[in-house]
Amino acid sequence: MKNSIMTFREKKEKGEKIAMLTCYDYSTARLMDAAGIDGVLIGDSLGNTMLGYPDTLSVTMEDMIRYSTGVARGCENALVVMDMPFMSYQLSVEQGLMNAGRLMKEARGQAVKLEGGARVCPQIRAMTDAGIPVMAHLGLTPQSVNAFGGHRVQGKTDDAARQLMEDAHKIEDAGAFAVVLECVPAPLAARISQQLKIPTIGIGAGNGCDGQILVYQDMLGMFNDFTPKFVKHFSNIGEEMSRAFRDYISEVRSGAFPDEEHSFKMKNEDILSRLY
Ligand code: KIV
Ligand code: NA
Repeated sequence: MKNSIMTFREKKEKGEKIAMLTCYDYSTARLMDAAGIDGVLIGDSLGNTMLGYPDTLSVTMEDMIRYSTGVARGCENALVVMDMPFMSYQLSVEQGLMNAGRLMKEARGQAVKLEGGARVCPQIRAMTDAGIPVMAHLGLTPQSVNAFGGHRVQGKTDDAARQLMEDAHKIEDAGAFAVVLECVPAPLAARISQQLKIPTIGIGAGNGCDGQILVYQDMLGMFNDFTPKFVKHFSNIGEEMSRAFRDYISEVRSGAFPDEEHSFKMKNEDILSRLY
């Protein structure tokens, strides 16, 4: 059965952990969905993993629609959440609502995600009122990388911890159905998870969150530009891909591939000697 935001809420109430991964294409979505993933996020991290940008700032609405469309088509059960790219909701409530609506209409996921606390609550409220579920994102919010001056753990000091808890309550009150906590000290993320009714989805936020998310190329060991401390390699697919690429290249060069098994026959080869 197709997961909804209700499924997420129920899982938190039952104390069942929520497993999410990022996803950017149809084939991978099919595999994750069949494996039983609870939800997938078309993250604007596709700027890094799919497009090779140094950060997420250049990702456009068109990028998000394109990639989200493929993922949404590949998910029978998983809840599909689509990131709102940088500058697609910061300008105004109207701009945010229009772009969230575009993602829902054109890409056909079930929810959108945006970054920020108090300052985006009017957007969260307007989207939620329009029937668009919103996942919030607090802690390290990569669209503000230039304001943070790098990728740093957030909420370490008393003031920052207080601020984070306050923002978490505000986005819940504004109607968010869940919240990503990124690079937040584990004890603080656990405390926020206890205090909120909506599920928290952690990435670099310890084991006390209601769910977890990782970038799939990171957890498969396919993306080695850099590896944050919170990334666990559940496989080394990158090595396996490299081996397959090397084998293919050498078989093409040696003529071992394609062999008869992977080639087509014709009805009558006699014709060949009469073809010029
Ligand atoms: O873009 C992304 O992949 C994200 C997750 C890391 C939460 O926002
Ligand atoms: Na993101």
